[in-house]
Amino acid sequence: MMTLPTICWQNGYVKLIDQTKLPNKLEFIICRDVKTLWAAIKRLSVRGAPAIGVAAGFGVLLGIKTFKGKDSRKFIQHVNKVCDYLATSRPTAVNLFNALDQMKNVLQRHAGESVENLKQLLKSEALAIYEYDRKVCRAMGDHGAELIKANSRIMTICNAGALATVDYGTALGVMYSAKRLNKKFKVYACETRPLLQGARLTTWELMRAKIDTTLICDSMAAGLMRDQKIDAVFTGADRIAANGDTANKIGTYNLAVLAKFHNIPFYVVAPFSTFDLNISSGKQIPIEQRGSDEVINFRSIQTAPQNVKVFNPAFDVTEAKLISAIVTEQGIIRPPFVKNIKATIKSVKIK
Ligand code: MRU
Repeated sequence: MMTLPTICWQNGYVKLIDQTKLPNKLEFIICRDVKTLWAAIKRLSVRGAPAIGVAAGFGVLLGIKTFKGKDSRKFIQHVNKVCDYLATSRPTAVNLFNALDQMKNVLQRHAGESVENLKQLLKSEALAIYEYDRKVCRAMGDHGAELIKANSRIMTICNAGALATVDYGTALGVMYSAKRLNKKFKVYACETRPLLQGARLTTWELMRAKIDTTLICDSMAAGLMRDQKIDAVFTGADRIAANGDTANKIGTYNLAVLAKFHNIPFYVVAPFSTFDLNISSGKQIPIEQRGSDEVINFRSIQTAPQNVKVFNPAFDVTEAKLISAIVTEQGIIRPPFVKNIKATIKSVKIK
């Protein structure tokens, strides 16, 4: 488990691990203004739905540093502009929008307060989003650990670990909790083309935590499942609709279909901040399309003709019927998801 936070607020600035440099170098970026933070989200220096949500909260704090004056009305307009700007960084992870809504709600609840007070209240809210993530990841880990049977072989994709949150993870948090309980298991990490979050980040993180980890190419998942070498799949999520349909890193849907065919449980691990109860199904989830360069080149190495046409969606949607259960901070939600998601989430305030 990571001992250093992926992202934090330090002396009035945002400090984050530059994940584009991992696993070769552990380097940090200091963001002193909102534009630098926006760019860090866009190019995936900070990534993973919960970490993006935390970054958005801190981004608002950076954005208000430049505001001068005592007019609360103008201040609120300024905050709304900063939020709108941050909202353009990446479209799929709903944690980003939920965090921005949470920041805007502070202003609504405290209309009439001075600019100075509003700034303080926003700071407390951003720090609360950070603390909430630390707390709920541990809670999800502890609930999910019961799904890991002795000597399990687990498959995962992308990075849903400490690096995708403040410091513990969602799907990988379940593994950290299982390890703490002295359970024996091993992990197969899919490399996760095109940006290799599985190869670069998940293996780095799991090996630091001394968890038995094997890296595979994405195309090897089917064969491993057929050969009865996988007992469960655990993934994170970027957005979960009210019916349980789940957007996550491209390739997640492949694993879910394969798991169904081979009768292997498929678990999604995500906090309430990843649910979007305003949409009834995954069809309404906006999927980020990224540049062709990510598929044509790996860093500076060209791996395809420069002018080839490329299709590069960053996420896909796994239908709820392929999901065995969703692990949340309030426990494990099982089908029927429409009813059980509503029953679990309506009773809890996100904070
Ligand atoms: O493009 P990324 O690296 O931000 O995609 C991240 C994922 O798909 C993760 O699985 C998801 O955000 C859950 S992280 C706990």
